[in-house]
Amino acid sequence: MEKFVITGGTPLKGVVNISGAKNAAIAIIPATLLVEDECILENIPDIKDVNIILDMLSCLGAVVERIDKNTVKINATNLHTYIVEKDLASKMRASYYLLGALCGRFKKASVALPGGCNFGIRPIDQHIKGFEALNCKIGIKSGSVEVDASLLSAGHIYFDKVSVGATINIMIAAAKAPGVTVLENAAREPHVVDVANFLNSMGANIKGAGTDTIKITGVEKLHGGTYGVIPDQIEAGTYMFAAAATRGDVTIKNVIPKHLDAITSKFVEMGVEVIEGDDEVRVIATKELKKINVKTLPYPGFPTDLQPPMVALLTTVSGTSIVTESVWDSRYQYVSELGKMGAQITVDGRVAVIEGGTPLLGAEVVATDLRAGAGMIIAGLCASGETHISEIKYIDRGYEDVEEKFGALGADIKRIDD
Ligand code: EPZ
Repeated sequence: MEKFVITGGTPLKGVVNISGAKNAAIAIIPATLLVEDECILENIPDIKDVNIILDMLSCLGAVVERIDKNTVKINATNLHTYIVEKDLASKMRASYYLLGALCGRFKKASVALPGGCNFGIRPIDQHIKGFEALNCKIGIKSGSVEVDASLLSAGHIYFDKVSVGATINIMIAAAKAPGVTVLENAAREPHVVDVANFLNSMGANIKGAGTDTIKITGVEKLHGGTYGVIPDQIEAGTYMFAAAATRGDVTIKNVIPKHLDAITSKFVEMGVEVIEGDDEVRVIATKELKKINVKTLPYPGFPTDLQPPMVALLTTVSGTSIVTESVWDSRYQYVSELGKMGAQITVDGRVAVIEGGTPLLGAEVVATDLRAGAGMIIAGLCASGETHISEIKYIDRGYEDVEEKFGALGADIKRIDD
């Protein structure tokens, strides 16, 4: 079992390059199944979740080739099945995107119920509602979601809840559904826009992605091509938090600063300086920082995926800060790990109260999920002494070259085989 060993106390300094967006890549890769031709995807992060979804495509019969570390060629001309087995599908939540893609391609899909990080109940009712509106029959049989899309056609869907996954899944399914599909109360995350841009670049007709109403005019065929995935907003945010928490000075390159506005505005409120360039942000945290209150929200609100890094930062800021998680039911499992390091945090339901400014001390902690793992790294970088983080397989799912990138900023972080 691998672990990270971090010796904290060094302010991070220097430049870090951000990789392609995980949550865009793991939706765009399944969407290539709609294309009976060659797709070349650039700026694909070299992370475990991407490898898992690529394996799923290979099992369906797609020819997948890594041209280099961050470029993948996919040819899905000769698929031989519409069934995604449990052992693969249960490895990640995003396997549900194969439902939309296989319906568009085969008019049939069978995908075992998705796995993924445990944040409490993770229903798929909005996906089901969307497929039904597209005239599909959908049901759950022996642990798999089965869709009969033989009558696939456009529909009008008002999502009861803003869902990134349901918005993307139904957008993919509708790309080749005859007629005009309208999605209302759609998610507006940058990766929703990126999936729409990818599909449009292959010949789809999708308008309004990035707003809460998306219109998809179904087309008969998509063509191949080359597409570059957007930079990872959450990875960029993670390095912004690490810079602020260690009171460092870090330039985060290859980002879209607009995607980071919710973080930047909180940093300004706290007294962290953020200098925006065309495709970079520089984070300087030399002044004393002020406590704040934060509520996670769908985009353009403060992202839930940066809630653990935010809590880690707030443990270093004197005073009482309050964080409210409004997206997931249960995303504070990691707080007890921060407690082992001396953090003073109490959680009541969706609210965490952080009494910041008490010194963090190195400890043996567990990465309870991907972003919790990012929070533990940040806490470890701030703590005195050694922090040992286990279960780093979660961190490897979503962060490319994590110890190399932190190491280049002056962090003392090592991967060891325990
Ligand atoms: C995506 O998950 C991301 N994952 C998550 O990031 C992220 O936390 C989440 O969006 C919110 O931003 C991927 O993109 C692969 P949702 P997703 O559907 O699509 C409820 C990470 O660390 N809901 O927007 O599964 C749901 O329970 C991961 O990179 C329903 O009620 O999230 C939640 O409370 C973790 N019914 C809320 O909506 C549904 O049918 C938002 O979920 C679907 C969702």
